[in-house]
Amino acid sequence: MDADQIRSAFLEYMAEQGHTVIPRAPLIPKDDPTTLFTGSGMQPLLPYLLGQDHPDGRRLTDSQTCLRVQDIEEVGDSRHTTFFEMLGCWSLGDYFKDVQIRQFWTFLTERVGLSPERIYVSCFIGDPAHGIPKDTESAGIWTELFTAAGISSDQVELGSEENAALQGTGGARIAFYGKKNWWCRGGTAEDMPVGEPGGPDTEVFYLFPDIEHDPAYGPHCHQNCDCGRFIELGNSVFMEYRRTETGFEPLPRRNVDYGGGLARIAAAAINTGDVFRIGLLWPIVEKLEELSGKRYEDETRAMRVIADHLRGATFLAVDGVRPSNKAQGYVMRRLIRRATRYAFDLGLEENFFPQIVPTISGIYTHHFPEVSEHADSVIDVLSKEEQAFRRTLRKGIKQLKGHRATGVTGAELFVLYDTYGFPVELSTEEARRNGIAVSETWREEFDVHMEAQRARSRA
Ligand code: ALA
Repeated sequence: MDADQIRSAFLEYMAEQGHTVIPRAPLIPKDDPTTLFTGSGMQPLLPYLLGQDHPDGRRLTDSQTCLRVQDIEEVGDSRHTTFFEMLGCWSLGDYFKDVQIRQFWTFLTERVGLSPERIYVSCFIGDPAHGIPKDTESAGIWTELFTAAGISSDQVELGSEENAALQGTGGARIAFYGKKNWWCRGGTAEDMPVGEPGGPDTEVFYLFPDIEHDPAYGPHCHQNCDCGRFIELGNSVFMEYRRTETGFEPLPRRNVDYGGGLARIAAAAINTGDVFRIGLLWPIVEKLEELSGKRYEDETRAMRVIADHLRGATFLAVDGVRPSNKAQGYVMRRLIRRATRYAFDLGLEENFFPQIVPTISGIYTHHFPEVSEHADSVIDVLSKEEQAFRRTLRKGIKQLKGHRATGVTGAELFVLYDTYGFPVELSTEEARRNGIAVSETWREEFDVHMEAQRARSRA
């Protein structure tokens, strides 16, 4: 099954289970000033998770386009992307753990056909300080499912990830973690803003047995280890709490908030740990190979970054964002400029975005036809930004390399930003690539100059 088929299979299966299929929300959240981008499937549904009735009922499903830029510099490995689709299903006070865990299992093992032997899970260990118990109910349901598939279902209590790496799981199928199995927007139970919903979750991982554990991540591998041997496919959040001033209170209804990474499930389905090999990304890589005459095997990182960033920038343009120096526009600018910088390494020094955008719109013709509908204006927006940046790219790189002997300060990074349009994060990254020392206080220095410039322009 390829990614397109998996998306359709998911939505069909969920519809069979009584869910209404709803359209994706744009990447820019409506009426939510607390966050720049839609970063999960639940975000547009927040009022309903807090208790409001949804016009389409209590069972909903979609494939939500998301953008997460916190890990932008990790893009380039086999599985991080800024843009992704989250397959979602929700029970708004309807079914709970039993139905959800079974439908997740059935979807993965029967509809997608993943091997049950390679599925591992995690559950919440409990939070006595807040009176939230260990999730033995989810573990019990998993035990039943594994047992029925003839698989042993050993459990292990790990707590923190650090401890998990030290202790090891002994191959246990069901591992209990603390913070890792508590889900709320943007972090931990302690950091949740008052009023925010959250709850314990259970996560599903797929094992790639041919990938050896990398000891750089600790002595032992475990479900949440980042070495690439386990890949998280999705998680079911049992959203039944709301943060109060002093702790937690039950939400008016107990909800399920499920999110599955379409790309990761699609990668598992073709038995690769490299999400860039799936049908939603590989055609972009092939186009880059054709245009540059270079091979993915030799230019893996650059091609991954360009493919991911241009796809993200394309969807931002479709959703009405334009490159600028603030907020969403700045992130879009960073994506485009970073892609342009990496393209330079591939020898793609001409205006190449217009040749990539049609590949991207082709990939989404079926499910997100708005990309094709807007293709001309997307090309226009992206190309203008690309061209503007190219004019100064060489000069900026040269300027930065001039600091090789002395290192670079925040003030000099500001000049690069101001004169050459180098997003400061791109400059620091470029400096690191070239072994140029960056002053420890660059951020503070940079901000002082930025503020002074703002004051000048106000005056
Ligand atoms: N809201 C959960 C997530 O984003 C499903 O992972």
